[in-house]
Amino acid sequence: MCGIVGYIGNPERTIGVLLNGLKSLEYRGYDSAGICVVSEGERNTVRSEGKLENLKIKIEDKQITAPTGIGHTRWATHGKPTENNAHPHSCGPVSIVHNGIIENYSDLKEELSARGHEFYSDTDTEVLAHLIEEQYEDGVLLEEAVLKGFERVEGSYAVAVLSENEPDKIVALRKFSPLVIAESENEKFIASDVPAILPYSKNIIFLEDGDIAVITSGSIKIYNYSGQEIKRDKKLINWDPVMIEKAGYRHYMLKEIHEQPRAILDTIRGRFSESEFTVEFEELLKFNSKDISKILILGCGTSYHASLIGKYLIESIAGISTEVDLSSEFRYRDNVIDDKTLILSISQSGETADTSEALIAAKEQGAVTIGLTNVEMSKIAREADFTVYTKAGPEIGVASTKAFTTQIITIYMMAVYLAIKRKKIDKDLSKDLIRSLISLPKLMQVALELDSSIKVLAKEFHTYKNFIYLGRGINYPVALEGSLKLKEISYIHAEGYAAGEMKHGPIALIDENMPVVLIAPKHGNYFQKIMGNFQEIKARGGRIIVVTSDSSFQNQLGKDDRIILIPECSELLSPLVTVIPLQFLAYHIANLLGTDIDQPRNLAKVVTVE
Ligand code: F6R
Repeated sequence: MCGIVGYIGNPERTIGVLLNGLKSLEYRGYDSAGICVVSEGERNTVRSEGKLENLKIKIEDKQITAPTGIGHTRWATHGKPTENNAHPHSCGPVSIVHNGIIENYSDLKEELSARGHEFYSDTDTEVLAHLIEEQYEDGVLLEEAVLKGFERVEGSYAVAVLSENEPDKIVALRKFSPLVIAESENEKFIASDVPAILPYSKNIIFLEDGDIAVITSGSIKIYNYSGQEIKRDKKLINWDPVMIEKAGYRHYMLKEIHEQPRAILDTIRGRFSESEFTVEFEELLKFNSKDISKILILGCGTSYHASLIGKYLIESIAGISTEVDLSSEFRYRDNVIDDKTLILSISQSGETADTSEALIAAKEQGAVTIGLTNVEMSKIAREADFTVYTKAGPEIGVASTKAFTTQIITIYMMAVYLAIKRKKIDKDLSKDLIRSLISLPKLMQVALELDSSIKVLAKEFHTYKNFIYLGRGINYPVALEGSLKLKEISYIHAEGYAAGEMKHGPIALIDENMPVVLIAPKHGNYFQKIMGNFQEIKARGGRIIVVTSDSSFQNQLGKDDRIILIPECSELLSPLVTVIPLQFLAYHIANLLGTDIDQPRNLAKVVTVE
């Protein structure tokens, strides 16, 4: 959470680069923002509560030029999202922006106070500014003061620091929070994440934990905490800057929903052979699947829902016993895992603290770990024994859409891969599974055509205060995902349930004020059962939106019920189709309610706090 940027270069461009960078990092936090720029003998700090627009308005009045600057967009942890708590924080000549949490900040603050330091904010970050300032005596370089100042700091951080006394320098360091650097002719860039610097360079240096970078207009030098210079290679990132624009869509979320067939194609490309009917994961060459007796999938939020679908896929295709846990729960309970357990950690960002810490804990217990993430060089990518990437491209909207479907398709391919490796399926079955995979993007494209009809449907339903989503089997997690999408962007209360659970309690909620979204693709056993649930709801006066591939369902509907017809698709891949109308429904309802769809209140795209 929180986004950091830094720039050294053309004084006329500094403000623009900082603000553009912050704009593309706003998904990391957006409750307040600030910048600080320095030139010879002058430092200017501007901070503002609320969205970046407020900061922009404040800066426009000031006509600031300076060659060096840092900026920050905040997701509050310590202290309310006020201007006073907004970063950068300063003490003496030093200003700092910080992403992360300083765990021992109150002890450090107490000690500093006893030595006469006075604090103006409620943040942990201000403590860092004081610690550095205290070490920044005459003759000491900023990087030396930073290193000394951080000696007793515990927690996670990525920081960028500048000083009025050394205006051609930014010192950046990281521990457990991401930080990237790049350069173009005469310019240097620092950011929490690649999208902020992609418009200027695709050759990115990823700092590692314990790196301290000293960046000046002439050079980028990287040291370890003992002060030895180290080399970090540049990595070419093939994301196109256009991918991080809205491409004519009103919101990133809508753009990302529509990108799903393309994201699926990119994710499956090169992984299967159409002639041999096999699936390949080059990154798993050294992974011995035969030694595995159990799989445990870990994730949070939408990635957790993809994990639940993963259980159905792996058990059904590869026949390996699979459990699923919320990353935040797994870590703090006694769990039974060993070197025969495969941990599959799923995270779009690859930075979610709950998931990365769970992965590290499982690794310590001897489990084999695979990270499944969308972001190269992210923490999970670096910590896992093996890393498999989804190719969704940058996901900017806070509500996850294309990350979800690319995660599911990757687990599906992994399940086929494991099944073939462990000789669980014959050629005919793998042929069928791969054929279904190939036909999927087209089916998703057909589902995307529902956009305008669901927009109309949303008008009828956007005033309800509560919703229930029901699904069965592999579409039960889709019910959870559909309800999460609705609540997070429209702030409407929504619950997802396994349809079979209705009669055990939730049915008491049903009346004419409770729309029920029923996910009922026409598949074998489940379909008949869910028809039963449909009748139960009807009998209690509930209003139903049914998502189905069976057009004859129409005949069963009452005058207030609605049907969303989706294309037929294999049962195992049906979640990738059924979820699309639910993403649209949440989007259009939120749009009618006028919420901030891409940056819903209280949320952040990357959750680096536990
Ligand atoms: C919901 C959403 C969140 C994330 C969760 C995990 O739309 O985006 O629930 O899925 O915070 O994030 P990652 O996948 O980055 O670990």
